[in-house]
Amino acid sequence: MVQDSRVLDARYYMPAFSRRMKLVRGAGSRVWDDRGREYIDCVAGIAVCSTGHCHPKVVEAICEQARRLIHCSNLYYVPNQAELAERLVGLTGLAKAFFSNSGAEANEGAIKLARVRTGRKKFAAFTHGFHGRTCGSLAVTHKPAIREPFEPLSVPCAFVDYGDLDGLAEAVDRDTAGVFVEPIQGEAGVIIPPDGFLRGVREICDDTGALMIVDEVQTGMGRTGKWFAFQHTGVTPDIVTIAKGLASGFPIGALVAREGLEFQKGEHGSTFAGGPLACAAALATIGVIEEVLPDIPRKSERFRRGFATHDPRIRGLMIGITVGERCAEVQQRCTDEGVLVNCAGDGNLRLVPPLVITDGEIDTVIEVVNAALG
Ligand SMILES: Cc1ncc(COP(=O)(O)O)c(C=O)c1O
Repeated sequence: MVQDSRVLDARYYMPAFSRRMKLVRGAGSRVWDDRGREYIDCVAGIAVCSTGHCHPKVVEAICEQARRLIHCSNLYYVPNQAELAERLVGLTGLAKAFFSNSGAEANEGAIKLARVRTGRKKFAAFTHGFHGRTCGSLAVTHKPAIREPFEPLSVPCAFVDYGDLDGLAEAVDRDTAGVFVEPIQGEAGVIIPPDGFLRGVREICDDTGALMIVDEVQTGMGRTGKWFAFQHTGVTPDIVTIAKGLASGFPIGALVAREGLEFQKGEHGSTFAGGPLACAAALATIGVIEEVLPDIPRKSERFRRGFATHDPRIRGLMIGITVGERCAEVQQRCTDEGVLVNCAGDGNLRLVPPLVITDGEIDTVIEVVNAALG
């Protein structure tokens, strides 16, 4: 069986990923591979499986909706769609939502919305930032290795050092449509900006009329201990983009924008986005996150204490530890001991476990990771 999948994959699937194991089942924070080995999953689809794997309430919501109507064109009112939009508006404090199928697509939508409502073309974003792989979202993604092979990209973007407000003030002017910013950089390895950074970005956007677009694709949906990471800062963005943890693994993305910023008829659309199943999964996910959110700071503190000797960067259940060249080896050691973690940018070990992870599981993760770090 194992061999079959590997052989088929090598023969028929484009080799864009490097992978070693096959996961076949999940429940809560646990997953099992095709050899029956059990792991505590601190990758969680890279911050996707917010409610853990196959949460019964999410499974039930998907099955229930699947029995009624699986798909419905956006030419009609879509079951669960407006209800989910209402929830996201309430949770962000913004005014209107629009759905997509992924994080990259949510950012693609934000680029279009910023351009069409400001009449401006240019953007600014930050070094080591990641916003997706579609041509627009890639244009505002810094990492040269993944962006440069696809240039020229049609969205001009100035990159400024993450945290550098003077640099941003120089880069942004009255032709800038928007500034893309992650409140914590996830793919870069859980990089936390200096205090006051988002407020400074807000002020520069206010001074120039550029829109502040906060990418909460990885940090959103309770990951950092609040619904959205920007809510730790007292700053309100113009547009927020969301995806990963929104529907526990069912593909969906969203952008939510302030009053007055909306697509008009015909300006944007998608066949599948905001479909009945995805919205059902998202509504159920929000219900579960509501239950577990108050406990995130306590779980976060447990991780912080457990990793104290490694100087971790932690916000809620988003954890980065600088490891350097040994990162892949540490990752493998953890896997061998039954804990899945991954290496994000620049040799940073990243842990983004399900928000439902238990204290016992946290303690096992701490023990295994500490032993692997040595
Ligand atoms: C901050 C951020 N934005 C956007 C994306 C792209 O999301 P997707 O892979 O769903 O297109 C990611 C994915 O890792 C991300 O971390």
